[in-house]
Amino acid sequence: MQPSQRTSRNRWMRLIAGAGLAWLLSAPAALAQQPTAASDDAAHQAFNNSCRTCHSVKEGDNRLGPNLNKIVGRKAGSLPNYNYSPAMKDAGFVWDQDKLTRFIVKPDEVVSGNKMQPYGGVSSEEAVKVIAYLQAAAEQH
Ligand code: HEC
Repeated sequence: MQPSQRTSRNRWMRLIAGAGLAWLLSAPAALAQQPTAASDDAAHQAFNNSCRTCHSVKEGDNRLGPNLNKIVGRKAGSLPNYNYSPAMKDAGFVWDQDKLTRFIVKPDEVVSGNKMQPYGGVSSEEAVKVIAYLQAAAEQH
């Protein structure tokens, strides 16, 4: 009886080790998903911190600043029911990721004479997060 008991214990050990290995192998996949969820939060947070006082992402919901619904791909200064500065109204371009990033970092360098005041600008790292949020919001609405 002794030898066969040992074999079965060995088999169990191997099974447990195998399960442990499988868990270890699957762990990186589980970990890889966390940053995505975390960066969604970070993106939302970045927007809340820097933009939400003046902007909403809801269509038609203008506050101190114009709403930013589907802003990527929208013509600058083009909402009919928002009172833009002449500078923004005449900007004459369509917002893309590059223009937005630069505008969020230094508004005056992209649209000189705009009235997005007293907004002070954020780092380009924050700007990237904010744009990720704006794009995610555009897909949901
Ligand atoms: C203090 C208020 C305030 C804050 C904070 C603010 N904005 Fe603005 N934003 C404005 C105003 C006012 C305008 C209109 C500017 C104009 O007409 O010259 C504007 C315009 C814009 C436009 C142009 C919209 C269009 O229809 O062309 C974009 C894009 C924009 N803001 C993005 C942002 C983002 C992104 C943030 C956060 C990183 C932010 N703003 C923070 C007040 C603000």
